Amino acid sequence: MSLTSLSTREATAKAAVLVEALPYIRAHAGKTVVVKLGGAALVDELVAPKVAGDLALLSSVGMRLVVVHGGGPQVSEAMRAAGIEPAFVGGLRVTDDAAMEVVRRVLAGSINSDLVGTLCVAGLRAVGLTGADAALLTCGRRIGANGEDLGRVGSVLETRSQLLTDLLDHGYTPVLTSIAPDGEGGFLNLNADAAAAAVACSLGAAKLVYLTNVAGLYQDLGNEGSLISQLTPSELETMIPTLSAGMRPKAEAAVTALRRGVPKVHVLDGGVEHALLLEVFTDEGIGTQVMA
Ligand SMILES: Nc1ncnc2c1ncn2[C@@H]1O[C@H](COP(=O)(O)OP(=O)(O)O)[C@@H](O)[C@H]1O
Ligand SMILES: [Mg+2]
Repeated sequence: MSLTSLSTREATAKAAVLVEALPYIRAHAGKTVVVKLGGAALVDELVAPKVAGDLALLSSVGMRLVVVHGGGPQVSEAMRAAGIEPAFVGGLRVTDDAAMEVVRRVLAGSINSDLVGTLCVAGLRAVGLTGADAALLTCGRRIGANGEDLGRVGSVLETRSQLLTDLLDHGYTPVLTSIAPDGEGGFLNLNADAAAAAVACSLGAAKLVYLTNVAGLYQDLGNEGSLISQLTPSELETMIPTLSAGMRPKAEAAVTALRRGVPKVHVLDGGVEHALLLEVFTDEGIGTQVMA
């Protein structure tokens, strides 16, 4: 015999959560969602296993998930250890040949395989990929907004997403890191936000979610009360010149995705427990939502 510790009120509240979630579960079943997990969120090693648990739940109710990840702080740390001082232009990392080797080692060698392992522990059948696999991403060199030479920084020219579709159709969860071949035997460093947007467009995703280390997009970073819960692509585009650091390429990528057919983009704090579930399964949602 075992005695229940749940009061009737608690049990009713739990049931209410499930009832609220049901229409969202129905609406999302079979839909493709691209989740970009930022390096900033991954700095806290407790974040990935928690996000993995949420992703496993979303997958088990029928969502087709593609994970794209960055690794900004981890790459910067490894660059410093290799004697290279990180430099950025408009939120994009200046990447010379030596830096590219560090980027590749950290993103593909460490973060991707760590994340794949964590997702598999959570019950997903995760598969690690770079843009090179099955020629998934074709890239060209990207220059800075004012014509600056950024070195081995790429922008996605073409996405051949058949590999992703095949993996999803067979119940696998692709986990893509943001490097891709330059067509000349080398690699280019892609901004992971832009890579996630390209993949979301190519797959006709229903949602693109950026999990980062801030609650969402602030009108005025540093002023807690200025968190924007919802805005239009045009409003976001107008804000781009005011954005600093990694939020700038994120906003640019979000606008591109929205203009190319992704109906919703979200920016959430990956460190908030169950941020993904709250966004997907509740009426209120959290973070910032941009709707086309
Ligand atoms: N208006 C803004 N609202 C939110 N974050 C902003 C804003 N402007 C700049 N940022 C910066 O953007 C960062 C997120 O981008 P980034 O560091 O590249 O994270 P990620 O690794 O998730 O891509 C935030 O930590 C914040 O410092
Ligand atoms: Mg970033």
